[in-house]
Amino acid sequence: MADKEGFKISKDFHLDIKPSSEGFHVKGLNHCDWGMKNRLSKIFNSKSGNTVMLAFDHGYIMGSTSGLERLDVVIPPLMEEVDVLMATRGALRTCITPTQDKAICLRTTYDSSVMYDDMSIGGGISTDIESAIRINASCMAVQTFIGAPGEKNSLELLCRSVDAGEKYGIPTLGVVAVGKDMVRDNKFFSLATRIVAESGAHIVKSYYCEGFEKIVAACPVPIVIAGGKKLPEQEALTMAYKAISEGAHGVDMGRNIFQAENPKAMAKAVAKVVHENFSDKLAYEFYLDMK
Ligand code: R5P
Repeated sequence: MADKEGFKISKDFHLDIKPSSEGFHVKGLNHCDWGMKNRLSKIFNSKSGNTVMLAFDHGYIMGSTSGLERLDVVIPPLMEEVDVLMATRGALRTCITPTQDKAICLRTTYDSSVMYDDMSIGGGISTDIESAIRINASCMAVQTFIGAPGEKNSLELLCRSVDAGEKYGIPTLGVVAVGKDMVRDNKFFSLATRIVAESGAHIVKSYYCEGFEKIVAACPVPIVIAGGKKLPEQEALTMAYKAISEGAHGVDMGRNIFQAENPKAMAKAVAKVVHENFSDKLAYEFYLDMK
C-alpha cells in the first residue's frame, strides 16, 4: 500500500509537453466509444476544445437563489450564449423547453441543504441512470467531498455513476466541493482533482487557484472551473482568462453570469474568453460595449 510518509514532492509536470489529443478534441477520452464521444462533443466545442456551462442548479441545496427566483424567466434568454445547461431534473422539466438543443449537464446527486452547517457531510443519488437517459443528459454531475466527512460516500456515488453512465455512453462530471473549514489551495485541489479523475470522472469541475497549470497537467481529463461567489464582472473575466490560459477547458459558471448587471452580455463575454482567446481586458471592454 502506498504510504503517505516519505513521498517525494511531485515536480515533474512536463509543462512543456502538451497532452496528446490522439484525434479527439477532449483530453484523455479518445478511447471512449461513439456515443460517449458524441455527448462529449456536444459539451466541448470541437474547434476551441472548450465549453461554457451555465450552472443554475443552486436550488438543489440553496432553494431560491438571488438572481434565480424565476428560472423560466432568467435562463431562456441566456441559453443561446452557452454550450451546456447545468441543472436538476426538476428545473429542466418545469422551466426549460425540451425544444432547445443545448447539452444538458444533469445534477444527479442530492446534498445537505444550506440549513446544515456544512454540506460536506454528503448526500445521495437524486436521479438514476434511467432518468438521465429519459432526460437525454449529455453528462451527469456528482458532488464529491475529498478530505471531508462525506468523502467515502461521495466517491462511492461518483464511481457508481461512472459505472452506470459507461453502460449507456453518458459521461460523469465530478465536482470537487470544498468543506467549510478546508483550505482552498493548490495542494488540496491537486489531490482532489486527481482522485476524482482516477475514480473515473470524464470531466472534473474544480476551482481556479494559484499553481493551476500544474493541477491541469496532472489531471488526465478536462477541468472546467467553477464560478463561485459573485465577483465584479472584470474580476470574473480575469479568473476565466487565467484559468483558460493555464489549461482549463472551460467554465461552469452560475452567479457570475446570472447575477451580473447584464447577464446576457456577461455570458457573451465569458464565451469570448473561452472560445475566441479574448484577453480579460478585451472581454471586459466587450462586456461594457454590450451594456
Ligand atoms: C456546485 O457544485 C454546484 O453545481 C453549484 O450550484 C454551481 O457550481 C454554482 O455555480 P456558481 O458557483 O458559479 O454560482
